[in-house]
Order: sequence, then C-alpha cells, then structure tokens
Amino acid sequence: MNWENHFAARTQRFRRNTVREFLRLAGQPGIISFAGGMPDSNMLPVEEMKVACERALRRIGAKALQYGPSEGIPELRHLIAERCICAGVTAENVLITTGSQQALDLIGRVLVDDGATVAVQNPTYLAALSAWAPLGAKFRTLDDSSASKTSMAYVIPNFRNPTGDTMDRAARQELVQHCEAGRIPILEDDAYGELRFEGEPVPSLLEIAGTLSGPVIHVGTFSKILAPGLRLGWIIASTELIAKLVQARQAADLHTSTFTQYTALQAVEDGILDYLLPRLRAAYRQKRDAMLQALSITMSEDVTWSRPEGGLFIMLRLPAGTSGRALAARSLESGVLVVPGEEFHIEGGTETVRLNFSHPSLAQISRGISLLAESIRTGSLEERCAR
Ligand SMILES: Cc1ncc(COP(=O)(O)O)c(C=O)c1O
Repeated sequence: MNWENHFAARTQRFRRNTVREFLRLAGQPGIISFAGGMPDSNMLPVEEMKVACERALRRIGAKALQYGPSEGIPELRHLIAERCICAGVTAENVLITTGSQQALDLIGRVLVDDGATVAVQNPTYLAALSAWAPLGAKFRTLDDSSASKTSMAYVIPNFRNPTGDTMDRAARQELVQHCEAGRIPILEDDAYGELRFEGEPVPSLLEIAGTLSGPVIHVGTFSKILAPGLRLGWIIASTELIAKLVQARQAADLHTSTFTQYTALQAVEDGILDYLLPRLRAAYRQKRDAMLQALSITMSEDVTWSRPEGGLFIMLRLPAGTSGRALAARSLESGVLVVPGEEFHIEGGTETVRLNFSHPSLAQISRGISLLAESIRTGSLEERCAR
C-alpha cells in the first residue's frame, strides 16, 4: 500500500512540528537540550501524585474509571472557576480539555473558517499555527491592520513562547478595546502566567474585559505548574461558546480522562500547588539567572537576548547574517539542541533561536551556553568567509 496516495487533501496543510522532532534527540546520552518547553523532571511531583491517585480512587471508586461528562467533572470545573480572578465565572463557563493544545484545536474548529485570518503575535506558539493551518487559516501579525476580516486574535500575554516577553497593561487594554469594538474574539493563552518569578503581575485580558460576554476566551493548563503528562487544560468562556465547543470535543475524544481529572483534583485539594508553585518559581528563577549569566559571559557583543520575568524561555538574537537554522544544525554537532526561531515566526525571525532554561540542569546550562557561543563564533566566521 502506498499510503501517500491515500492521504486526504487537508494533510497537505499539516505543519511539521520541528520542536517535537528535536525532542526525539533530546533524551540521547550526552545531549544538552535547550529545545523543548518541558518542566524540570526533578520537580514533577511523583510521590504526591501517588498519594493523590490512591486517595482519589478510594474516595471516588469506580466513577473515577467510568465514562464522564464531556465538559469535565463538575468538581474540577468548579475548582478552575474558583481559581479564576474574573468576576462572574462559574463552573458552567469551564470546559476541561485534554491539555491546552486541545483547547486551541477545538477553538479553531469552532471559530475559524477555511480561508479566514487569525491575527497572532510574531513570533508565536508553533503548535497553535499547526492546529489552525489545516483548517485553512491564514495568519497575520497583530499589528498589521491592513488585512480585511479577522476571525480571531491569539495572544500569549505572559512570558510568551518563544520570546519570554510579557504584554504590558496598556497593550492589553488596547487589544481588548480594539477587539470589543471590532467584535473579534481574542484567545488568551495563559500557559505560563503562574510562573512569574519577578516583577508585578499584569491583569489578564479576561480581567480587563471584566466579563465573559466580551471578546475574551481564556485558556489555561496544568502542564507547566503540575505535570504535562496529565494532559489537563481548560477553556473559560461564555456558556454559549462552551456548548458549541462541547459538540466539537465529542467528535474528538468524548471527554478528558476521568481518572486523571479526579487524581489532579485530589492533588490540588490536598494543597499540591501551594507547595509546588513557590518551588517551581524559585528553581526556574535560578536557572534563568544561570542562563543569563552564562550568556553575558560567553556571547559576543553582537548577540542579544530577551530577559523574561517568568516562564521557560529566552530568545537569542544572532549577529546579522547568522542563520538560526544553520546554527541549530551546527550546534547539534557539538551536542547542544536549540530550536531555530524561524519556526515560531509567520514572517522573519531567521536570525534567532529559542532557548529553554527549565529542563536542563545548572551544569548543563553553563556548559551548553558556552558550546553554543563557540558554534555562533565558528558560524559567523564561516558565513563571513563565504560572503
Ligand atoms: C503557549 C502554549 N500554549 C499551549 C501549550 C500546550 O500545552 P499543553 O497541551 O501541555 O497544555 C504550550 C506548550 O508548550 C504552550 O507553550
């Protein structure tokens, strides 16, 4: 069977997810990976989840292993609504999803028509583009107002993947006002908001809008604050939109694992986030600082980088004419994985690479950045000689 001949036409629009391809190499011995967006494995709460799992099964019994509601179990929906700062949010406004990636996929299916335009930050989260490209979405940058009708705006306001930067309050207000006036839905992807380890929190777009009858749809996840292997995320939206999203999800996976939901619920009720969040923030702050310091010691003056106040990523801007893609290939030869920044851009970004600081150890950060600096120097030299 030649399967190529059988693929549906829409598969032509599938994007390769280079990050995930890189991640296959990340586990190999001797490799230092700055490539993924993974939590520090040492911070994953194995013992606590063991206890939570047993307690949940003892308390809930067979119900935890049975089919459950498509919207998610009521107790977890209630908990997410309670943790949300925006006034008037109830469990009815919450849809539990199988990771926030599923939230992005479902929202796209419900709001984005074939050929419609989605306005995104440039650069933005690669797998959001991968979710919507097969639907026939066209992408434009948020600040490009030349395009005609926009079906949705997508923003990662806190510690954006891939740059690590944060939208200030004025920019958030402006975006909310603009989208209110133009009746454009805004998807606020807040995967990293709770990982702030410096500076003052900025109100979410949902808080700024102050209501779910406005344009904002809020998406969150337990992946970066508890464990990504749980595959637990959520959407907070108007009940009208939730009802339509539930129809879409019923065709996808019926519902998110009841077992995982009850286990995570138990863990959160037992106080795991109160214990874990301060530890995560302290550990990632230390790693960010180690990476910033290693960069300032090893990099030449024509290399610059972002300085995030939270999250998992730093973006490196390379000397003019240095290709991020070529650097990633060269750096791999010295055992260091980085992702070319171009992957996250809808335009430009060829002279950037994304660095993750949460997963590598402090020793790997120091060694890896120094190897990377060496690869940049050799690359710049080669590229200069080739000109
Ligand atoms: C901005 C952003 N949104 C969503 C996701 C998806 O995460 P998950 O499906 O694990 O919740 C990620 C993962 O890295 C991300 O960086």
